Amino acid sequence: MSEPPAQPSGLWSDDALWAARAIQFPVLFLDAQRRVHQANPAAQALAAKLVGDGRAESLVALVSDEQWAAALRDGYWKGIVRPDPQHPLALEIHCGQSPDTDHCLMVVLDISERDERQRQYAELQRTVDRLATAQEQLLRSEKMASIGQLAAGVAHEINNPIGYVGSNLGTLQDYSSALLSLVEKYHEVLFSENPQARRQEIVQARQQLDIDYILGDLPNLLSESREGIERVTKIVQDLKDFSRVGRDQKMQPADLLQGLDSTLNIVWNDLKYKVRLEKHYTSLPLVECLASEINQVFLNLLLNAGQAIEQRGTIVLASGCDDEEVWISVTDSGCGIPPEAMPHLFDPFFTTKPIGRGTGLGLAISYSIVAKHHGRIEVTSKVGQGSTFRVVLPIRQEPAQDPSETASPPSA
Ligand SMILES: Nc1ncnc2c1ncn2[C@@H]1O[C@H](COP(=O)(O)OP(=O)(O)OP(=O)(O)O)[C@@H](O)[C@H]1O
Ligand SMILES: [Mg+2]
Repeated sequence: MSEPPAQPSGLWSDDALWAARAIQFPVLFLDAQRRVHQANPAAQALAAKLVGDGRAESLVALVSDEQWAAALRDGYWKGIVRPDPQHPLALEIHCGQSPDTDHCLMVVLDISERDERQRQYAELQRTVDRLATAQEQLLRSEKMASIGQLAAGVAHEINNPIGYVGSNLGTLQDYSSALLSLVEKYHEVLFSENPQARRQEIVQARQQLDIDYILGDLPNLLSESREGIERVTKIVQDLKDFSRVGRDQKMQPADLLQGLDSTLNIVWNDLKYKVRLEKHYTSLPLVECLASEINQVFLNLLLNAGQAIEQRGTIVLASGCDDEEVWISVTDSGCGIPPEAMPHLFDPFFTTKPIGRGTGLGLAISYSIVAKHHGRIEVTSKVGQGSTFRVVLPIRQEPAQDPSETASPPSA
């Protein structure tokens, strides 16, 4: 304790002095003139730390008259003091005035570090928010990049039906003018003076216009065209579903096999020339998920499977479930993965593909999507024989689980 000034206060009992010494908080005992009568070791230590001389009076001198007056009036004051303009201090003062005298007890706290921690926390929070936005943008751009990769294939998939629908329309136009000519002929003959005598003309017109052939071909052309239009509508719809990304989306029950088929539809043009496809689907319950993000996982796995097959090969899609989980697997008969690459599969930017072919983000993003759904991706592979990627997802998301949390990558 610092030496009390000339006039000892005599206001603290021995017990109170003993307690003040033991207290970890800096405690000062002042009179109305702000003279220090007692200061416990914590107050002296604080003075040494903040002012450098260990004198409780220096601690008092840090605070202006108005600030002390506010502390006395309200019992509490918190604010910044600047003994050194470069290093502002945040202080908190708790004040209790004696009911009988004009003396008061003050607890002075240096909350600079607490304030600093709050500032750091706020900064950290802002960084987390920025990272979440960046991750969303990454997800979106990866998705757009894969759509870009697929654009030529998708354009072809759309062009093909549009091509034959267009050519069918040309033929249908010819057929309809032939049919209209025949109708005209009927009309002409029917309303002539002697229709009976002119029946042969109708027979000839039918032959000339090839009406029997038209009648046989017309329903086919119409149903083929309708099919083509439906196919284009489906691809456009699949693309729309696929390109949706957003933090605000809510997990909803979805049919994963339907999602897998839609995604297959988008990549099929890239695969169809070299891949024989087998589906071993077991029907699945609806799974609570962000369907468009899970479709992105399927897309990455299907693209990887296709890229692993150099000449010709097989891709097997399979599914299964138990009471808690569902799984969907993509097995290819491609090149396989060497054991030394296995631990790195889910690392961002890990790729063995030539520049321009792979960015190494497909599996990293798939991993984070599946982790967000509290699921996992299991991998088995044999060099020269092929690989299986199995996505396992819980059927229901626990309400208490935070969907934004992520886990560390699995050891493949
Ligand atoms: N089915 C597979 N067969 C063999 N190797 C695979 C298979 N799937 C992934 N890999 C290996 O894992 C690496 C990382 O895959 P990932 O999908 O993350 O990136 P990428 O396909 O190289 O590039 P991106 O997907 O960004 O276009 C691949 O480069 C490849 O070496
Ligand atoms: Mg990939």
